[in-house]
Amino acid sequence: MPLPLFISFEGGEGSGKTSLAENISVRLRDSEYKVILIHEPGTTPLGIHLRDLLKREPWSDHTVSIGAELFLFSASRAELVTKVIKPVFDQKQQIVLLADRYADSTVAYQGFGRKLPIAQIDAINDLATQGIIPHHTFLLDLPPEEGLKRTGSPQISLPLEFDDGLAIVEPRIDEDGTRRFENESLEFHERVRAGYHKLVEMQPERWEVIDATMSAMEVECEVWKRILRYLPEDSLQVSDIQRKGQML
Ligand code: TYD
Repeated sequence: MPLPLFISFEGGEGSGKTSLAENISVRLRDSEYKVILIHEPGTTPLGIHLRDLLKREPWSDHTVSIGAELFLFSASRAELVTKVIKPVFDQKQQIVLLADRYADSTVAYQGFGRKLPIAQIDAINDLATQGIIPHHTFLLDLPPEEGLKRTGSPQISLPLEFDDGLAIVEPRIDEDGTRRFENESLEFHERVRAGYHKLVEMQPERWEVIDATMSAMEVECEVWKRILRYLPEDSLQVSDIQRKGQML
């Protein structure tokens, strides 16, 4: 059983992955597991600045190039990996790392969505992640039209949405609410979904595809059932960590 255990959540707009990640983190803590919940972009001070920049930037006017967009997401990730994720692995901390989006988002959105060369995205991801990939990744899969309905967006265009950045252990609080700063076509989001499916095909052992058309509670129960299979019996429990004086 790997320590730490690194699990990421991926999916398109309106797939419910942010609430799911938060609810799973609560379930884990209730079961006395130590949890770090990270949101991308965000989490670190630099990541929060970048997130804020991405939120406010009038991308719809194409004032930020696609390449710059790629590097902003990647810069946030590089910082997050260096400051949070890598130390957890280096110190073999006994925790569960939950990521609400990670490098796969960049492949799906910037690679398949924006049509940037996948090989180059892979290279940038390798650099940003220092080769650290999740042990398990849940894809919350649903047709983009469904997700758009849930976000209340028009079906033919989809804004990228950013909430406020940081949630380590505590659920994320987004004081400003979700802000929309870019509209993308339904085709864009269909490419993103197809991109995720391609990633699943390439690494089926890492991915778990969840039918996100189910109710939020059904999705949560299904994901929880699967996560229980990955958890070591008691070695991650917080009481053990406290005994060993290894609290974060
Ligand atoms: P997020 O705030 O997590 O929104 P959502 O609730 O849709 O998950 O992410 C904001 C947007 O940023 C989301 O539309 C996906 C996009 N994104 C990328 O395009 N590339 C990336 O590498 C990441 C992490 C997110």
